[in-house]
Amino acid sequence: MPALVLLGAQWGDEGKGKATDLLGGSVDYVVRYQGGNNAGHTVVVGDQKYALHLLPSGILSPGCTPVIGNGVVVDPAVLLSELSGLNERGVDTSKLLVSGNAHLITPYHTTVDKVTERFLGKRKIGTTGRGIGPTYADKINRVGIRVQDLYDESILTQKVEAALDFKNQILAKLYNRRAIDANKIVEELLGYAEQIKPFVADTTLILNNAIDEGKVVLFEGGQGTLLDVDHGTYPFVTSSNPTAGGACTGAGVGPTKINRVIGILKAYTTRVGAGPFPTELFDEDGEKLRTIGGERGVTTGRDRRCGWFDAVIARYATRVNGLTDFFLTKLDVLTGWEQIPVCVAYEIDGKRVEELPYSQTDFHHAKPVYEMLPGWSEDISKAKTFSDLPKNAQAYVKALEEMSGAPISAIGVGPHRTETIEINSFLS
Ligand code: GDP
Ligand code: IMO
Ligand code: MG
Repeated sequence: MPALVLLGAQWGDEGKGKATDLLGGSVDYVVRYQGGNNAGHTVVVGDQKYALHLLPSGILSPGCTPVIGNGVVVDPAVLLSELSGLNERGVDTSKLLVSGNAHLITPYHTTVDKVTERFLGKRKIGTTGRGIGPTYADKINRVGIRVQDLYDESILTQKVEAALDFKNQILAKLYNRRAIDANKIVEELLGYAEQIKPFVADTTLILNNAIDEGKVVLFEGGQGTLLDVDHGTYPFVTSSNPTAGGACTGAGVGPTKINRVIGILKAYTTRVGAGPFPTELFDEDGEKLRTIGGERGVTTGRDRRCGWFDAVIARYATRVNGLTDFFLTKLDVLTGWEQIPVCVAYEIDGKRVEELPYSQTDFHHAKPVYEMLPGWSEDISKAKTFSDLPKNAQAYVKALEEMSGAPISAIGVGPHRTETIEINSFLS
């Protein structure tokens, strides 16, 4: 089983960090292929809790080589501070590899992200303010700065000047902000260059060779399917492709090399930031999910919007990612409800709709059609096998599996690595 993709099947925060960390002990490489430090992946190992933003969650497994692929946007200051934070806690980060083709987030990208949001006013996306969108925009506009540019001062200077020529006009004339000094940016970036140099590598070559040699490579998605710039709830999305195809472009590995695609699926639904969310709850149940589930953003500290499980979204994730498996997380959070509503379809303008509507207007009007499933009250956090679960919890999982279109191969019953029920091995 040389190459697997592990990605979010909903709007992010499904528990990808925990799932990646769980597999990290058995894989040779863990690769981030898109996004940047907008991600917040929580990993709990023993009594230690780690919040990873830019680094792949495999960094906590000693045998595993963590890789930041070409499709990631890298804030060099964040990279270095995350590395030193881990080093201080005794984590060896020396194996890290960073693609020379990955684009750099600079202070002007973060500034543009924040002022754009401010100017959008009530139409804002609710971004993480980490400069993600403006950095990808520069990449597509061909005025981006890449990691490899740090090692050619003349090219770096020319590129920063070219990027700022245009941006400074906008910042000064439209947003009423002070123009940014290109020399200062170049100086700051050069200040990171030597510290980052040992990690910079031709990651595409290394990963393809590794797969050819039968090594196990895990591609770890940030964000989630519904935040994908092509397949998500545009414009309320991030600016990259968390969906499975993104692993190919964002790491330089062909689709023929990928054997398995695992969708991480929360047993209910959450979302951070603006945008449509059919099963969102505004009542006590929503508050209960938020409290019991600890649904507060790892990156921005914002409360997550909470709602019931949405099978229409899960089916859509199966379709656009070609999912082979689901990893169902946070089943334990649902303990204690007498009945659990599950959204099986939408009602849009009086009609029942089984699939995610491709029209944004329709999706904004979608009302959930719920089926009630019986709940359970027993503590399930110690369950090790599927049959350890109460009958109603088993039935809940089976019902979700049937509605979602791919087998549920693992179930999370708590935040720790060990609090997982493995049904089918991901690595066989
Ligand atoms: P990610 O962005 O997909 O990695 O997810 P986050 O780390 O942002 O959010 C998931 C949260 O749920 C984290 O606090 C995890 O420690 C926690 N978590 C993951 N799996 C489980 C689970 O099965 N049960 C419970 N109770 N918590 C979990
Ligand atoms: P992980 O990897 C949840 C959301 C933001 C905003 C939108 C665009 O932890 O699942 P951006 O800063 O990316 O331009 O913001 O995307 N968002 C996330 N929501 N989990 C994440 O990452 C997210 N990363 C971005 O809240 O709505
Ligand atoms: Mg997260």
